[in-house]
Order: sequence, then C-alpha cells, then structure tokens
Amino acid sequence: MVSPSPLVNLPATLTWANDQLRILDQTRLPQEAVVETLTSAHEVWRAIHELRVRGAPAIGVAAAYGLCVAVQASRHLPLDAFRAALAEQAAYLDSARPTAVNLSWSLKRMLRAAECAGATDTASLYHTLVDEAQAIHREDQRLCAGIGQHGAPLIREGSGVLTHCNAGALATTGIGTATAPIYEAQRNGVAFRVYADETRPLLQGARLTAYELQRAGVDVTLVTDSMAASLMARGQIDVVIVGTDRVAANGDFANKIGTLNLAIVARYFGVDFYVACPSSTLDLDTPDGRGIVIEERGASEVTHLGGRMIAPEGIKVFNPAFDVTPHDLVTGYITEAGIIGSPYEANLAARFGRAA
Ligand code: MRU
Repeated sequence: MVSPSPLVNLPATLTWANDQLRILDQTRLPQEAVVETLTSAHEVWRAIHELRVRGAPAIGVAAAYGLCVAVQASRHLPLDAFRAALAEQAAYLDSARPTAVNLSWSLKRMLRAAECAGATDTASLYHTLVDEAQAIHREDQRLCAGIGQHGAPLIREGSGVLTHCNAGALATTGIGTATAPIYEAQRNGVAFRVYADETRPLLQGARLTAYELQRAGVDVTLVTDSMAASLMARGQIDVVIVGTDRVAANGDFANKIGTLNLAIVARYFGVDFYVACPSSTLDLDTPDGRGIVIEERGASEVTHLGGRMIAPEGIKVFNPAFDVTPHDLVTGYITEAGIIGSPYEANLAARFGRAA
C-alpha cells in the first residue's frame, strides 16, 4: 500500500486498498470532504471528466488505478481476451480529458508494463498492473518532494508568492507541484505570504488552494483573478509559481485558463515566473504549444455560479479550460531534477530526452 497524503491535515486525494480505488470528491470541497469508491471504467471516466479528481498528476495516478478497476470484470477471461479488454479500456479512459498529458502518459506506461510482463495467466497480469499503478503513485509523491527541494530557495524571507488554480497536494498524491516549494519553505521556517487567485470559472484557487494552504497553516490570501496586476504594481509579489498540464519540447506550456495573463503581467512588472513541472508532465513529442489540445467545457460553468444563473438566458459562451503560455515568458521550470532555464528546447531534451 502506498502512503496517503503526506500532509497531516489534508484528506488524501485518492487511495488504493483491497483492490478498491477511492477518491476525494473535489467538487464538494471546501464544504465537505466526501470520499467515493469508483467501481467501473465509466465511473472513473466520469470522475476525471467532471473534475471530481483533477490536476494533471492526480489524473495520471487515478487513471492507472482506474485501469485496474476497469479490467477487474475481465479477470475470468483468457489471457488474449484480457489483453484486448485492457487496450480497449485504456483508450476509453484516455478520452476523459485531452489537455493533461499525465493521463495518456500513465495509461501508456501501464500498457507497456503489461506488454513487457511475461505473464502466463490473467491473475498475474492483473497483479503486474496493480504493481505498476502503485509505482506511478509512489513516483508522483517523489517527484513532488523533489520539486519542493529545488523550488524552496526561490521563496525568501518576506517573499510574496502568487499562484493560480490548484497545483497543490489535492492535484497530486504528494505535496503538490506549485505548492511543493511553499510547503518546503514553510517547513524550513521561512516567513512569507501566498496569494491564491480564485481561478474562474471553477474556482479551484478559492475552493482548493485556499483550503489546503489554510489547513497547512500557510499565510494565504485569496484574491480574484483580476487583482494580480494590481498586486504586482504595488510590489507585493516577488515570484509567481504555477503548475502545468503539458509542457511541449520548446518549453511552451498549457495550464489553467488565466495563466497566460499572469505570465504577461509578470513580465511587464519584472516578476519572476516559474512553472513547477514533474517529468510526468513533459511532452517532448509535441514540438511547441500549437500542438497542445485545449479542452473546451460546457457553457454552464461560465453562466452559473454556485448553481445560480448569473448571465442572460441564451448568451454565447467561450470556455476553454486551459491556455498556452509561450516559453519566453517563463523564468524557469522547477522539476524534480532541478531548475531548468532557457534555452528550453536544448535543456529539457538534455535532461529528460530519450537519449539522456
Ligand atoms: O481543470 P483542472 O482543475 O484539472 O486544472 C488543473 C491545473 O490547471 C493545474 O495547474 C495543473 O493540472 C497542474 S496540477 C499539479
């Protein structure tokens, strides 16, 4: 069994025990911490699609266990038929959301593990899958910890840190990506302030980042997305740290809608802009940001707030869930292997490329 959330005061994003996948329903936070058991491929697909489990690394881990859940019903089949079901269910889960590369990365890794296993029966192949999902889970926790170690020195005594969306513990199974340097700096006794963008339309910053940082005792202030420029103009932000859903080979990256605005504003005010990126979120097969598919979500996420209509009936809506920030606005990538600066194409390939 892999240990649950390393943060004592926070419910685990997901757990795997007795062949059961349980997730914390993040759509109900911060009001209530409801844990649900996912018992079929369809339930896993819906949980990812509806953002009950969300954040690129957490989606990857959930999909790996989700694939184990998905093939449990095929365990009575002969090996060939089991392998066919495995491929089919992986393709199905992969269609839940398009932008975070961790989803396809983890499913491909599961299929590769199944291919390489010299299993002669279905039961042992199933156990290979569970072992691989647990390896992905443990690795996610290690990557977050590595990002924390390398990123913490960016937060100095008295710093103001701005973050967007939730790239926190809730978006991973460890201490988060963008929040890892925050938790590590706090552990080192550094005094600093964090500003959390609320992150319209689904308010991951207000509902999740504010919730987890507050529970961890971090000095956190909630602001609306439109307040970032004003904060920087007042000199209250020393560093921006965001997460990412996919980083292309040239260093362009996708993250929650509004990240591009922040990067532009940070450049204008000369504020450092870092992206916390575990290697599981790198997509070196996509040359640049133009190749990243951006998820578009339903209109009601914009026209409604807390279930209440806030726009005129029939209004046209544009609701991309992510945007792409060009690499030249990035000060550096905080990875588990250290901080990677420009030129990104060469430096990412040298550190994480196939040949490296
Ligand atoms: O739509 P979400 O909530 O899954 O979007 C999450 C983000 O954009 C995060 O910043 C990103 O996945 C990195 S999580 C460590």
